[in-house]
Amino acid sequence: MRRTIIAGNWKMYKTIGEAIELANGLKRELFELDTQHIEAVLCPPYTALSEVAEVISNSNIQLGAQDVYWQDEGAFTGEVSPKMLKDCGCNFVIIGHSERRQYFSETNETVNKKVKAALKHGLFPIVCVGETLEEREVGRTFAVLDDHVINGLKDLDKDEFSRVIIAYEPVWAIGTGKTATPQQAQEAHMYIRGVLAKMYGAELAQACRIQYGGSVKPENTKELMSEPDVDGALVGGASLNVTSFATILKTAAQVKK
Ligand code: PGA
Repeated sequence: MRRTIIAGNWKMYKTIGEAIELANGLKRELFELDTQHIEAVLCPPYTALSEVAEVISNSNIQLGAQDVYWQDEGAFTGEVSPKMLKDCGCNFVIIGHSERRQYFSETNETVNKKVKAALKHGLFPIVCVGETLEEREVGRTFAVLDDHVINGLKDLDKDEFSRVIIAYEPVWAIGTGKTATPQQAQEAHMYIRGVLAKMYGAELAQACRIQYGGSVKPENTKELMSEPDVDGALVGGASLNVTSFATILKTAAQVKK
């Protein structure tokens, strides 16, 4: 049985004060969340990681970052290492988000280096994969998923792979209000699981958690989470508000219990 995982990607939103307020609100709303079946993760911007870590310490909410660099330390102006993220209290890190691929030249190769570095330091990587609208329209969805999954996870051994979380995020559904239908999500998730089975065997592929991301909101959580291969969500816009993110978590917990 895969444990559902819902992560909030705050992107470049929230000052420290705002982040503390949001984290406090969520801690209050979610104190009864049954973490036996569901994990809740907050991914604030770097500047608010330490403060949010403090707010959610001794709670059932965990901390993640939105990116990481692959070196342990060095002259890499502007970058943050896995060791530094651990130091802030992170357990998770989002890697290869489509916005990073689109605006910051992220490639499968850099994703792969980051995944390995995160794993080496005991972080659970949330590896984002997914096609653009153009790619979907020309029938390249599965080819893009092959490319992102095979090359992003290249040369990981089974033990390393067992700690990887995948987020299927069709680029056309991110921040557009346009959600993939539950059937589209299920189809892609099942496909990804098939690719993972070829790489790591059926058992590990079955155990791997695959989140859906792209305009997840309280209103569509139930139908998306009802799909058998959808194991959670990576939530952008709707994670910036206490009520909507808490509702997504509670709804998912109901569906997946
Ligand atoms: P969205 O973003 O929920 O605002 O569409 C999802 C994401 O980018 O992870």
